[in-house]
Amino acid sequence: MTLGFVGTGHITVAMVEGLCSAPLLDERIVVSPRNATNAAMLAKRFANVAVAADNQSVVDASDIVFLAVRPPVASKIVGGLRFRPEQTVISLVALHPREEMRALTQPAAVLVRAVPLPSAARRLGPIAYFPRNDDVEALLARIGTPVAAPDEAAFHRLWSLTGLISPFAALIEEWQGWAEAGGVGHEAAEQYVRAFIHCLAVMAQNLPPAELARRAATPGGINEQALRILREAGGLAPFRQALDSVFARMNTPKPR
Ligand SMILES: NC(=O)c1ccc[n+]([C@@H]2O[C@H](COP(=O)([O-])OP(=O)(O)OC[C@H]3O[C@@H](n4cnc5c(N)ncnc54)[C@H](OP(=O)(O)O)[C@@H]3O)[C@@H](O)[C@H]2O)c1
Repeated sequence: MTLGFVGTGHITVAMVEGLCSAPLLDERIVVSPRNATNAAMLAKRFANVAVAADNQSVVDASDIVFLAVRPPVASKIVGGLRFRPEQTVISLVALHPREEMRALTQPAAVLVRAVPLPSAARRLGPIAYFPRNDDVEALLARIGTPVAAPDEAAFHRLWSLTGLISPFAALIEEWQGWAEAGGVGHEAAEQYVRAFIHCLAVMAQNLPPAELARRAATPGGINEQALRILREAGGLAPFRQALDSVFARMNTPKPR
């Protein structure tokens, strides 16, 4: 089986790194020549990666084709390619609805949209995709946790959550800054906060959030106190506002 990538930018590099570090990889991977530096770097690092002469050569060589170019140029690039009926195409392109990408990739049998994270390089993180497809799910499971969305609006809703990476980082920075301002040294504050976040992430992976909150919130304890104050100050509502705003953008007509 050969996997092809049209567009060798950040997300392709992350996915190829993840796929090539997964056990038992027996696929060949073909990447497009742009970006030239990334393509050469991947081919040098991984024996099963080759750089194609052009985008059409990627499609011609592949059973599964990932589309990983930027939204403003996607229609023009993809529309100029010829696909085969037995191919599966996985579009990572934001803002372009499935029906549009499906029309552009006719007669390919399958068109799935997916949103991996850069953490795919470490084979970590959720990968929302739509519509459900067992073969695609098995492939994506090698570099993360695939989550099938029931419809395209739900897919956009899950994709919107990926906009919370920077807010999350800012939140951690806020906690660390607060500790430092109170006299905890930079190194100790950073060490503590990082270990704390790691522990919260592992616990959240293993418990539903309501149960995690319930277990931590001893009546009259400091977790109950902190959550009450945040709720009273409306401290959680802005997250919904931010997500609503990102979601609205996902659903606005895309640049052509
Ligand atoms: N980054 C993420 O975390 C992420 C996650 C999920 C989905 N996505 C989606 O994946 C797509 C790519 O994102 P990205 O972050 O990887 O962007 P990126 O780093 O800008 O990569 C896009 C690549 O496309 C190449 N390109 C430009 N014109 C091309 C052409 N005619 N033929 C082939 N390749 C061409 C560019 O090459 P040059 O450098 O030579 O211009 C660039 O390396 C976007 O649609 C984005 O919405 C990204």
